[in-house]
Amino acid sequence: MESSEKIQSIRAAMPAVREHVYLNTGTFGPLPQVAIDAMRAESDREFRDGRITTASYERANDLKQRARQEVARLLGCRPEQIALTRHTTDGINLAVMGRNWQPGEELVTTDMEHPGAQGPIFNVARRYGVIVRTARLGTGAGDVASAMARLIGPRTRMVVLSHLTWNTGAILPVGDVAELAHRVGALVVVDGAQSAGSIPVDVAALGVDVYAIPGQKWLCGPEGTGAVYFSDAALDQLHLTVVGYASLAPNGLEPIGGYFVPKPTAERFEVGGVHLPAIAGQVAAMRWLREEVEYDWIFQRIAELGRYAVGRLAATDGVAVLTPTDRMAGLVSFTVRGADPQRLVEALARRDVIVRWITHPYSIRLSAGFYNTEDDIDRLIDALEDARAEVSER
Ligand SMILES: Cc1ncc(COP(=O)(O)O)c(C=O)c1O
Repeated sequence: MESSEKIQSIRAAMPAVREHVYLNTGTFGPLPQVAIDAMRAESDREFRDGRITTASYERANDLKQRARQEVARLLGCRPEQIALTRHTTDGINLAVMGRNWQPGEELVTTDMEHPGAQGPIFNVARRYGVIVRTARLGTGAGDVASAMARLIGPRTRMVVLSHLTWNTGAILPVGDVAELAHRVGALVVVDGAQSAGSIPVDVAALGVDVYAIPGQKWLCGPEGTGAVYFSDAALDQLHLTVVGYASLAPNGLEPIGGYFVPKPTAERFEVGGVHLPAIAGQVAAMRWLREEVEYDWIFQRIAELGRYAVGRLAATDGVAVLTPTDRMAGLVSFTVRGADPQRLVEALARRDVIVRWITHPYSIRLSAGFYNTEDDIDRLIDALEDARAEVSER
């Protein structure tokens, strides 16, 4: 299919991207038709069948396994290394809380992390006396691996960083950092919230230990879905923090004799019941991305649109692009001279151009998704003039 024809057929399947100038996939991706159809069908089935037959359990297990398989294909690992979660933050918590931390042990991270990673990090710092060493990376434009190397030492037990940062959209060298961390025996935990579905990811080639992803952003699935990868080393070393029947091996619990045997696979990090319509939507969206839209095309298109956005923004008077352009994909952060980012984002929303403002650095962030067009970016640039005049007038 020719590219423009392909984009039209993608847009035909995603009403939200026709409704607005939709440049905020970094927050939520638009749902494709197949996802909403699968969610409705699953809800109807639950309503009709009552969720209680043996077939319903088998169906639930099958659907969850299909979700793990889709994620494993995306990340380049085995389905047994994947646990389903509710969002990225769940996966990061499972990793960071999964160590029996001793006071004085160290965790290395960066100043570009989202609260979804900062929360678990500062929780173990407060709860167990873990020392947090934070690399100051600014916009992520400098020598990230060297900045991390200076902090990684004999007491480092874990390194936590984003693959693609939520604030400036910088791609961080997680493979290099993993090599440094492994030299001292530390586990590497990656926040993949902005990378999964926006850039190629191969967890084995990167050599990372944990890779946490959402379903609802670049993978265009429903809210309440996510997954996390564990390397074999991570599976060996990390303990369970939240545990339930879904964590157990068959006949793995004997309350009277007092034993508890978790599943041998990453599935042991799952706990209990899930919202099956959401999983059905996640599977349908990911299958559509893989089979119909095709990941290679997606990654290339996102990079192309990101570059186009940077070009247009950089050529606009008073706009400063904060994103390091030699290591970016579809997230672009910028400021506009004389315009408060929050007020500007609100003014753009009144013109039906949906971007967001972020706090560190205080700026505006656009996300270019594979379903966007150059025209969407042009409409943002046009609206920017007008919106900027509105907010600087007051
Ligand atoms: C880099 C990063 N990490 C974590 C999160 C939190 O994601 P979730 O809601 O999937 O836990 C976000 C959400 O914006 C993010 O951008």
